[in-house]
Parts: sequence; C-alpha cells; structure tokens
Amino acid sequence: MYWSKYFIPTLKEAPAGTEAISHQLLLRAGLVHMLTAGVYTYLPLGYRVLKNVERVIRQEMNAAGAAELFMPCLHPLELWKQTGRDEVLKDVMIRFKDGRGREMCLGPTHEEVVTDLVKNFVQSYRQLPVILYQIQTKFRDEMRARFGIVRACEFIMKDAYSFDRDAAGLQKNYARMETAYRNIFKRLDLDVVVVAADSGAMGGKVSHEFMVPAEIGEDAVAVCGSCAFRGGASVLETAGGVCPQCGQKNLAKSPALELGHIFQLGVKYSAAQQALFLDEKGERQPIIMGCYGIGVSRVVAAIIEKHHDEKGIIWPKAAAPFDVEILTLPGPDDAEGVEPAARELYRALTEWGMDVLVDDRPDSPGRKFNDADLIGIPLRVTIGRKNMAQGQIEIKVRGTGAMVLVPQQEAGGRIKEMIAKL
Ligand SMILES: Nc1ncnc2c1ncn2[C@@H]1O[C@H](COP(=O)(O)OP(=O)(O)O)[C@@H](O)[C@H]1O
Ligand SMILES: [Mg+2]
Ligand SMILES: [Zn+2]
Repeated sequence: MYWSKYFIPTLKEAPAGTEAISHQLLLRAGLVHMLTAGVYTYLPLGYRVLKNVERVIRQEMNAAGAAELFMPCLHPLELWKQTGRDEVLKDVMIRFKDGRGREMCLGPTHEEVVTDLVKNFVQSYRQLPVILYQIQTKFRDEMRARFGIVRACEFIMKDAYSFDRDAAGLQKNYARMETAYRNIFKRLDLDVVVVAADSGAMGGKVSHEFMVPAEIGEDAVAVCGSCAFRGGASVLETAGGVCPQCGQKNLAKSPALELGHIFQLGVKYSAAQQALFLDEKGERQPIIMGCYGIGVSRVVAAIIEKHHDEKGIIWPKAAAPFDVEILTLPGPDDAEGVEPAARELYRALTEWGMDVLVDDRPDSPGRKFNDADLIGIPLRVTIGRKNMAQGQIEIKVRGTGAMVLVPQQEAGGRIKEMIAKL
C-alpha cells in the first residue's frame, strides 16, 4: 500500500473532550472516526487492526472446535419475550416497529436467537455437544457511552454458545473456552486477569471475566505490589490487604477493563424457549448452555491503552495494521534512486508475505517521522537520499528504538529476520 493513494487521516492534536489515551490515539492515528456519540467508523488502518484481532480470535475459536456462523442483528421482539429479557434489557435495547408493524429490536446479544436456532435442528443427545460462534455487530443504547470504542452503542463482539447434554460436558467446553481466551489475549500481548464474576442479566451461576488492568477501566482487580499476584477485587475485602501469594500487606486496587466474559448458563434459555433434546433413556431434557463473549472492538482500544508511548502507538505484531513501513525521503530530482529502491524493497517484502506501507508522501521528514511513530508499525525502514548515496538503508524498531544501517542489498533479509524476532 502506498500512503499517497491510501486513506490515513492523521491528526496533530487530539480533538477536545477526549480523555482516554486510546481514544486520542485512535483518532490521531486515523484509525476511527466518530459519526455520533457512541457510533464509530473504522477507517482503513483501524479496520486492518480489527481484522487482525478477529483473525486471532477466529483461529483460537476454530482450534477449540467452535463453528462460525452469522446471525441477524434484526430480531423479532417476540423471541425476547419468551425469556422475559425484553424487560430485563429494556434500557439498553434499541427497539422499534417496522413497516409491517412487527415489534423488532437490534440485538444487544444473541442467546435467544441462537437457542431458537439450535432448537430447530437438535433433537437428540447424538447431535451434542456443539459450539457455535459469530463475530458481529451488537447494539446497546449505552447512556454512558465513553472512551471512544471502549463503551460504544454499536460495537463488534465475538459471541460463542455451547450446547451440551450434561453438566460434565458444559464444564469441559467452559474450560476449553477459557483456554482459548487465554491464548487469544496472550497472542495480542494483553496480560489479563481472570476473575470469578457476577452473572448479571445473562443468568446462570458461574461466570468469569477477563480483565486487563488499565487506568480507564470501570471495573477493578487486586494487584500485589510485592509479587506477581493479581486477582479479583473481592480479595481486598476477604484478605484485608494481605497478599494470598506472598503474605505481604501490599495489595492494592487497580482499575481494570473487562475484555471478555464467559458464563455457565445452564438451562435458563433452553428451558424458557423449550430447546429440548432426547437423552439416552428417551427422556426430554433442556440443553445445557454456556455463552462466551469478547468485545473485539474494545480489545483494539485495550491494546493501544497498554502499548503506546508519548509519541504514539506501538502495535504488537499480531495486531499491527502493517508489518513494515517504508519511509522515503528523496531529493528534488531523486538522483540517489530513493523511489525505485523503495518500490523494489516493497515488491520483495510483499512477495515474502509481509504487509507493507510505503510513506511516499511529498511531506517534510519531520511530519513523516512523527506520523510513523504515531501509527506505530513495528518496523520503520527509512530510505533517504543521504544514506542511499552510500548504498545504505536505515531500519528502526518502533518498540525499542533500536536502529541499524544496512547495505541496500541486505535490507530485505535483515527485515525478515527482525520481524521474526518481534
Ligand atoms: N458498549 C460496549 N462497547 C464495547 N464493548 C462492549 C460493550 N459492552 C460490552 N462490551 C464487550 O463485550 C463483552 C461481553 O459483553 P457483556 O459481558 O454482555 O457486557 P457487560 O459486561 O457490559 O454487560 C464485554 O466483556 C466487553 O468486552
Ligand atoms: Mg460482562
Ligand atoms: Zn504478593
């Protein structure tokens, strides 16, 4: 991709009224744009990041044996009345009458829809277990929409649902999903704390939240100042500030952001919606369910919240919109052959399967360097007239600031090595 033909509207300053660092950087780096409060466009660079996060989630979900489908956003309210959640979720649900006079809502979550679906196809214990998931837009009329895409009215969620014949099956799938979640957050460089949680409006008894300590978090975790222990905020009350791991009285409360939430639902939905199966004895039983959510778009904000410096974003490799940015600084007549060198390197790296952005804009070096730091692509390769006169190209690691000068012919190989080490 060549920047001059692409669409990365970077901003020098964060727009007024933006508090969260992630929100400021999302706007400044040209990743998202606000249409109205709580509603965002993902611009090309931001959309690439979103797709990368989705890819990691998809790979881990598929590896855990979940099958991807795509359910509608548009739901008949009738379905929600079967569980009474048309009332429970009244405040967040966006509802209306359509042209045919049907009462409809935009799905804030999908337990009712997926239960109705599975009820249509599953009759026997032989068809269980099954795990279904989707990556899709959710709508919630959040009155406290804030921090940009952290709490939005329209956002992307990965939601998965497990269906089992017995409690043992649910335990197994729940553990499998927990492992998948740990893998996902690890691959995205998010150091999560898994905390036993309240099930709230979702129902069921057991639930766990995946929290990442962050200043803007609306939840909290306990963090030990003397060892690596981190746990649920409830530890603070039960242990009276004494760390259960090292015994030091050095536990403190840290704000945290909820990125994922998994629930053992049991039969709440299957019983209410009559999603039954015939067990081995030929008796009708409600299917035993679990549900598992990750706020995909919120994860993008969390990555920025955890990976930035005063100059901008520092993308972890798995989420980075591009692997390499080639920054060109040609002279007026390009006697040193900066532009052809950039095109040649671009071709070679792309052929090796790397995603490369070339900043070929005719802007000042200062502007181009600042923007490179701001958008945070892991490797910056500068091809400038001075170094090119000596046949040299500069490679800089965004995360560490480490810089090397290499001969032009060796640049491709060195970049490949450096990417592999990130
Ligand atoms: N308004 C929102 N904007 C962005 N992400 C959200 C929003 N609400 C929930 N999420 C994400 O979806 C995940 C699953 O949602 P859920 O647990 O149902 O939400 P909540 O805890 O807000 O009731 C959350 O862990 C969070 O990452
Ligand atoms: Mg939750
Ligand atoms: Zn400790």
